[in-house]
Amino acid sequence: MGPQMTAKEARQISFQYDGKSVELPVLTGSEGETAIDIRKLRSSSGLITFDPGFANTGSCKSAVTFIDGEKGILRYRGYPIEELAEESSFLEVAQLLIHGEMPSREELASFTDDVTRHTMLHESFGRFFGALPKDAHPMPVCAAAVAALATFYQEPENDQTIQEAIVRLIAKMPTIAAYSYKHFLGQPFIYPRNELDYSSNFLRMMFATPCEEYEVDPLLARTLDLLLILHADHEQNCSTSTVRLVGSSHANLFASISSGISALWGPLHGGANQKVIEMLEIIEQGGTVESFVERAKNRDDSARLMGFGHRVYKSYDPRAKILKGYCTKILEHYGKDSKLLDIAMKLEEIALTDDYFVSRKLYPNVDFYSGVIYKAMGIPVNMFTVMFAMGRLPGWIAQWLEMRNDPDFKIGRPRQVYTGANKRGLPS
Ligand code: CMC
Repeated sequence: MGPQMTAKEARQISFQYDGKSVELPVLTGSEGETAIDIRKLRSSSGLITFDPGFANTGSCKSAVTFIDGEKGILRYRGYPIEELAEESSFLEVAQLLIHGEMPSREELASFTDDVTRHTMLHESFGRFFGALPKDAHPMPVCAAAVAALATFYQEPENDQTIQEAIVRLIAKMPTIAAYSYKHFLGQPFIYPRNELDYSSNFLRMMFATPCEEYEVDPLLARTLDLLLILHADHEQNCSTSTVRLVGSSHANLFASISSGISALWGPLHGGANQKVIEMLEIIEQGGTVESFVERAKNRDDSARLMGFGHRVYKSYDPRAKILKGYCTKILEHYGKDSKLLDIAMKLEEIALTDDYFVSRKLYPNVDFYSGVIYKAMGIPVNMFTVMFAMGRLPGWIAQWLEMRNDPDFKIGRPRQVYTGANKRGLPS
């Protein structure tokens, strides 16, 4: 399905430049947000725009996800995240994001069946993992493995092969993720099992060994499913924009998703969930919450309060709100030590009343509490960002498809303001 182009040209903006009047249309989206359409700016005025970090730049029209950062609203295809988190499964949400509508019972059953039957990796993948250093971080392993899928499925691209690639990616991502961890541990890979649901299958591949079966705890599987749902899309963030940009050269889906995984790894993006736990552990091992907050406020110190702040949310991230409630439930259920959660809550309390954070509208984001939950679930810290990638996969796919079907499609190619040397001769 192509993007629903609800944005309409409503008004014009005009300005004088270099003795000429320049007129540009203003687009209005379906939730009322407005944008100057600058596609004719350079041809009509010679000007380009300058916007490092693209903080004021709409790179596309999109009908996938809506965020109101001021009000803390997040909706996938119009459905509030709170309702999806409460009532849906991850595969249902994946179908919603990719196809635009909630699947019927039959559609969901058929998609689940397809995904379940494509979970195995080609046997030669064993040698691929074996070629990597023993202590390889699972994130670059996953990125490389997803790129390597393109070498196994080299059919020419058409609607059918794209749909097959989508199923293969969603099916094989948990297997790749679990294998990347088993490789890190030096344990044998555990094959997927078709009778298990998506999240249970992943947990078993992570934690079972050939010597000992792993009984999947339904609460753990449901918690993982919830975490995957909360991460499933977040409009034009760094990794999604990367997927779109790479895909805009008509690079295939596997290559585009692999680039998204790499972009997600950075600590300012998905890698923040690992950094949050590392920060909480430093505090637990002798630092104080107050001294860490002071460091985060100091411009001469590179420390930031990880899991705090967001480019779009200028209020509490709705995903963090859901996860905070879940933290207590999980810790209580498993009778786990809540020390890290206590530190996190104290950090939040101090930060939310400190003028530095209040004036900059810095609130906890999704990564602030997800790490505490992953830890309580027994997920190793170096796998946290991999879990984010598993969750974000349907969003990347939906955005890639939307881009490829967009009537306004163009290869991504920003301009620049050149500040280097003027023409000069080579030194003699
Ligand atoms: N701790 C301390 N100060 C901060 C923080 C923080 N976590 N985040 C922003 N600031 C300050 C920043 O120094 C700047 O101050 P000043 O105006 O005095 O220069 C101001 O707040 C605005 O920050 P910015 O870096 O210009 O904002 P941005 O929109 O470019 O960056 C961010 C957004 C998420 C990269 C940033 O808030 C950050 O680095 N947070 C910590 C990392 C993190 O938690 N990332 C996960 C984001 S949510 C998951 C995802 O979708 O990726």
